Order: sequence, then structure tokens, then C-alpha cells
Amino acid sequence: MGHVIDRYQALVRAGELRTDPAQADAAALLDRLAGELEAVPKRGSILWRLTAKPAPQPRGVYLWGGVGRGKSMLMDLFFSEVRIERKRRVHFHEFMLEVHDRLRIERQKEAGDPIPAVVEALKGEARLIAFDEMVVNNSPDAMILSRLFTQLINAGTVVVATSNRPPRDLYKDGLNREHFLPFIDLIQDRLDVLPLNGPTDYRMQRLSGLKTWHVPNGPEATKALSDAFFRLTDYPPEDRAHVPSEDIPVPGGRTLHVPKSLKGVAVFSFKRLCGEARGAADYLAIARRFHTVIIVGIPRLGPENRNEAARFVTLIDALYEQKVKLLAAADAEPAELYETGDGRFEFERTVSRLMEMRSDDYLAEGHGFA
Ligand SMILES: Nc1ncnc2c1ncn2[C@@H]1O[C@H](COP(=O)(O)OP(=O)(O)OP(=O)(O)O)[C@@H](O)[C@H]1O
Ligand SMILES: [Mg+2]
Repeated sequence: MGHVIDRYQALVRAGELRTDPAQADAAALLDRLAGELEAVPKRGSILWRLTAKPAPQPRGVYLWGGVGRGKSMLMDLFFSEVRIERKRRVHFHEFMLEVHDRLRIERQKEAGDPIPAVVEALKGEARLIAFDEMVVNNSPDAMILSRLFTQLINAGTVVVATSNRPPRDLYKDGLNREHFLPFIDLIQDRLDVLPLNGPTDYRMQRLSGLKTWHVPNGPEATKALSDAFFRLTDYPPEDRAHVPSEDIPVPGGRTLHVPKSLKGVAVFSFKRLCGEARGAADYLAIARRFHTVIIVGIPRLGPENRNEAARFVTLIDALYEQKVKLLAAADAEPAELYETGDGRFEFERTVSRLMEMRSDDYLAEGHGFA
């Protein structure tokens, strides 16, 4: 028994995690993988030079299941525990943006197939790549993925992935799906596929009973939202003064600063999100990247704030469409937020969406589902 399973069991014993047989199975599988990855001698070491035959490539792991089942939690636990140097954890959607950028650069360099060069670079950067939230919903991504992953895995990179869908349902009913089927075979062939689909949605359990819209802005609302943030992220009390920030890529090669970002939960001020020139692409990047967004400092809006109001409409549309959970502090209830001004009529839809986003049904829905 290795240290991944030790850590998992310690959390269960400490009461931080409830006993869950499917999770225990997944932890055992990840523990096995950690052991195999660690058994390979360090590149360049004497042992490495003496080993005549390379060890067989460890099988990767594909965890799939409904929302809040603990997939990301287990992957993060594995990732932080596994004692190898060249490892990388990435959100799948960001990875695809990065791959598109890299392919574009390769195409400019020379004619011909750009994929092998990108695979070579990725392989040099990490022995293990952990992908959170694998999802395939358009034909270019499907085609690139299929070829890129096949070559990456054949080159010896170990892949761990989480997804809401079993491999056979990836890119379901997609255009030209027949070209994608070899990729599904590859996953089933080279990765251990494990459902993590127990009866409990642990995120919902943490969200239910939480008030999501706090009025007015002030210390009480701030305290409630900060408690909710820590409840959703399990952040240890001793580290709470230093919540990490992050810069996420947005289309067009730019980045967006996220002042607080942890385990798929982001905190923004209204001013940063809607007070600056931002547009649908930025909001979509946020909506895809985070399952929960906390917005503080939403003021009452008047005719002089029509730009802020319009951006807020676009933001809520993006969050709503991606089923992002919203917690907020505002100076008014949604219906009183923007009573007069340009676009008031359109704002009615936003009010309605905000109301729906507070419901238990909405809170129980999976992130990113159309
Ligand atoms: N056994 C458990 N007991 C208590 N809390 C748990 C347990 N498993 C997971 N959680 C908590 O539930 C929340 C949701 O878990 P996690 O984010 O890993 O879900 P997920 O399967 O990745 O969901 P999604 O598909 O939406 O990404 C997290 O806060 C996590 O720490
Ligand atoms: Mg997850």
C-alpha cells in the first residue's frame, strides 16, 4: 500500500471525507499508478543508464461520473502525492486552447503536419499529464484530440483524466464521429477506465442550504461568502490568508486575472468583471473554467451604468448556459438591481435567470451541460 491510499484513508479517518466505496476503488487505482510512476529511475541517473530495457509504460486512469462525485478531489490528491518531477495538471479546456496556439505556431514555421512537433514538446515537458474535465464538443477538437493523444500516449506520456462521460459517450452524436472512434478505443485499451458514480453529489451537499444571494454588500455578506468559499474548497484554516490567484487564458492570446481561484471556485469583484471593457469571450472562458463563481460588490445600477448592466447581462448568460453556480453580494435583490436605463427590457431575462440560479434544481445540475 502506497502513500496515495494512505493519504486518502487519513482524510476519511479525520472525517474530512465520507466513506465511499467507489472512491476507495479509485484511490487504490491511483495508488497503483503512483507506485509505477515512482518506480521508474530518474532520467539521467546511474540506475537509469544501467537499466537495459525501459520499464513497461504504466497504464493511465480515466475517472468518469456525475458531478460532485469526487473526481477532481481524487485526481488532485493523487497529483500532489505522486513523487515525480515532470508532472503537469491542467484543466482540459485550457489545454485545448494551448494546443490550438501551439499548432498555429508550428504551422507558421513549416508546411506539413504540425501535430508531431507539438507531441514532442509536450512529451519533453511532462511524464504525467492530468486532465480535469475532459469534454469534446466540436469536430476540430475531436480530430486533433484523437491524433494528438494517440501519439502522446504512444510516446510514453501517462495520462490521467476526469470526465462526466464514459469514453464511449465522448463526442456523442458528433459530426464525423467515425474518425473519433479510434480515440475511444485507445482510451479503453491504454487507460484503466473507472466509474466514480456513487449516489452522493458531495458538492450539492455542500451547497444545499447555503444562501446564494446576499443583500446588502457589507461585512456580513463578505463573511458569509468567505465561509462558503472555504466550505466549497476545503482550504485549510491556517492558509486562509493566502488564497492563490490565477491568470486564465482567454481567446485572442490574452489572459484574465482571477484574484482568488481554488478547485474550480473563483472570486471576483463586480468592478473587475463588469466595470472594465470585457466581452462574451472573457465571460465564456470564466464560465467554462469554473464550476462556481462568487461575485462581490454588485451595486444598484442606474441609467448611467448601462455599460455595466449590459456586461452583467452577457456575464449571467454565459454562467447560466454553462450551469455555473453563482454566489453573490449585492445592494439589491435581482428584480431591483437595474430598474431604469437602456436595456432594462433585456435585463428582465437576467433577473429571471438569477432567480432560477438560486433554485435547488439549478444547483444540482452539472457544470457545462447544455
Ligand atoms: N467522500 C467525500 N466526503 C465529503 N466531501 C467530499 C467527498 N468527496 C468529494 N467531496 C467534496 O465534494 C466536492 C465536489 O467534489 P469534486 O470537485 O471532486 O467533484 P467532481 O466529481 O470533480 O465534480 P465535477 O464533475 O462537477 O467536476 C468537493 O468539495 C470535494 O472535496
Ligand atoms: Mg471536477
